[in-house]
Amino acid sequence: MKHDIKLLSVGAPMALVEKGISEHFDVCREPHLEVRGIAVSGGHTRIDAAFVELFPRLEIVASFGVGYDHIDARSLAKRGIVVTHTPDVLTGEVADLALGLLIATVRQLPQVDRYLRAGKWLERPYPLTTTLRGRKVGILGLGRIGKAIAKRLEACDLQIEYHGRKPQPEVTYRYHPTLLGLAQSCDVLMVVASGGAETKHIVNKEVLEALGPDGIVINVGRGTVIDEAALIAALRDKKILSAGLDVFEDEPRVPAELIAMEHVVLLPHVGSASVHTRNAMGQLVVDNLVSWFGGQGAVTPVPECLALAASKAPKG
Ligand code: 8YV
Repeated sequence: MKHDIKLLSVGAPMALVEKGISEHFDVCREPHLEVRGIAVSGGHTRIDAAFVELFPRLEIVASFGVGYDHIDARSLAKRGIVVTHTPDVLTGEVADLALGLLIATVRQLPQVDRYLRAGKWLERPYPLTTTLRGRKVGILGLGRIGKAIAKRLEACDLQIEYHGRKPQPEVTYRYHPTLLGLAQSCDVLMVVASGGAETKHIVNKEVLEALGPDGIVINVGRGTVIDEAALIAALRDKKILSAGLDVFEDEPRVPAELIAMEHVVLLPHVGSASVHTRNAMGQLVVDNLVSWFGGQGAVTPVPECLALAASKAPKG
């Protein structure tokens, strides 16, 4: 229908996206002067002012995933380029995973499974584990996903506090103006914050140690938020108890020190990785592009591009 519009596909799109964009656009894999839209799959290509300079006709960058720290949305917006992402459709999935990872870490589920498979149950029961009971969870980043996690934690009878850029009037959880204050008050730190320069390594040695020797860190946000070297040291020196990590600083590379640790749970960034949710995310990438080039505006622009997207959207 719109085969006259040139679209660059960056990264490795899932089949649904590949099919959706090729049905509507003239898709290329290499940079081309006539490119008017870019579909970004995966966070490994940095899309910044220098990158988009190659495309004088570029109008929209549609990214797969809710986090877009690999895209310099502010400078693209300044150039009149709308950036879209895929919020909401993955909120429940990531929140489920976060709760699962917390329980798996506290009750050592992967270790217990390995124990049974190794035939050790025949010798003696698995040693007793630590518990979630009586714990206080500090959520770093109480956005859509953070709130969905909080709802699940409430169902587990856990106390919840949070830190973020600003207090949120609609929640009753205690707000901490500093991350250190949150860590001092809690014994679980649930990291949901997005990546980028603003949050790089904010979970540092001091914050980790403030959680105390029973402290548990869960990260389903971005690996860069935690100083990974400091985390490894805190785990090694027993300054904290354990960690459950779905994201890492240099994915898909995971430090050998972490892999060697029996008392941590490590997942290969699977927060949103169900067929159902990834399909919904992929469909939203396609919908944003089709809607934009169909003159209906972007469906889910990122906050930095809201004003721009509204100014370019059809009136009425
Ligand atoms: C995806 C994510 O794994 O949405 C995000 O920000 O981190 C995950 O849902 C990722 O975007 C896939 O590239």
